Amino acid sequence: MKLIKGEIVSNERIGNNLYKTTIFSPYITKNAVPGQFINIKCCSDNTVDPLLRRPFSIHDVEYDFKVFSIMYEVKGNGTHFLSKLNAADVIDFVGPLGNGININKIENDDFLLIGGGIGIAPLYFFAKVLLAENKNVFFAAGFKDGNFLLFDKMLERLKINYEIYSENGMHGSKGMITDFIKKRIDDFKEYDIYCCGPVEMYKALQNIFCLKNIRAKALFEEIMACGIGVCKGCVMKFKDNQNGYIYKSVCKDGPLFDLSEAVFEQ
Ligand SMILES: Cc1cc2nc3c(=O)[nH]c(=O)nc-3n(C[C@H](O)[C@H](O)[C@H](O)COP(=O)(O)OP(=O)(O)OC[C@H]3O[C@@H](n4cnc5c(N)ncnc54)[C@H](O)[C@@H]3O)c2cc1C
Ligand code: FES
Repeated sequence: MKLIKGEIVSNERIGNNLYKTTIFSPYITKNAVPGQFINIKCCSDNTVDPLLRRPFSIHDVEYDFKVFSIMYEVKGNGTHFLSKLNAADVIDFVGPLGNGININKIENDDFLLIGGGIGIAPLYFFAKVLLAENKNVFFAAGFKDGNFLLFDKMLERLKINYEIYSENGMHGSKGMITDFIKKRIDDFKEYDIYCCGPVEMYKALQNIFCLKNIRAKALFEEIMACGIGVCKGCVMKFKDNQNGYIYKSVCKDGPLFDLSEAVFEQ
């Protein structure tokens, strides 16, 4: 992990309030693994608002060009600042951060990746890494509407099997991606499963997997401050055999955790 200044190669608007920023960084392209993130200073040098850096998953890495990308939705001041940057601007970030996915420890050949909304961002990088290892990948993605229509083309370029659902039917089939998983779960029983998305998606998946005694990994998000395990601002509750419950920091212990161990407040 290092404090880095990286030049922006491109900053594209790819949907409504949805952006992809590509940054030149030999250090990140060499060292990042899927699931890791960077913490970006989202204001100019002479200002301090927002004071805290903002975390973004590494969404894609192009090793030949030594560039990586983040994909993000504009939510507040920090992401608004990022969306206004141009090619050749320099951003200040720390990374790669977090406990990502160690591809060398993976033995299975079949993978199911389940993304909800912007949760597809880190899973796309993971899919690319798995395909480079000749693994079989099925991508299941769910969206609210048609804002992520470009994602089909991205998956088609990767030549993997995929299924897309949207709540209003404007992208893929109409409905929730969790309903698709529920219907087809027996086909994926032997797969390694990784998911990333909103809490409601995680709660639904926990129920589905619990009934079938299937384990899955999840990439979690929490509002962060330091990003390196010091402030304890990003803790989440998990089941623990010895003490009942344990709190873990998403930035340092995660963001990758066992989905079945997460405790979501009702
Ligand atoms: C490990 C990690 C990886 C992430 N990866 C991505 C990514 O790839 N793409 C992306 O668009 N976003 C990602 N996020 C969320 C992103 O960090 C927030 O959207 C961003 O910090 C909002 O900053 P802001 O200043 O624009 O908005 P703020 O003004 O800070 O907040 C605007 C709204 O967003 C909510 N928000 C702020 N931070 C988070 C957060 N961490 N998680 C959920 N909601 C939040 C706030 O509660 C508020 O409602 C990630 C978060 C984490 C922890
Ligand atoms: S953000 Fe400080 S401990 Fe995670």
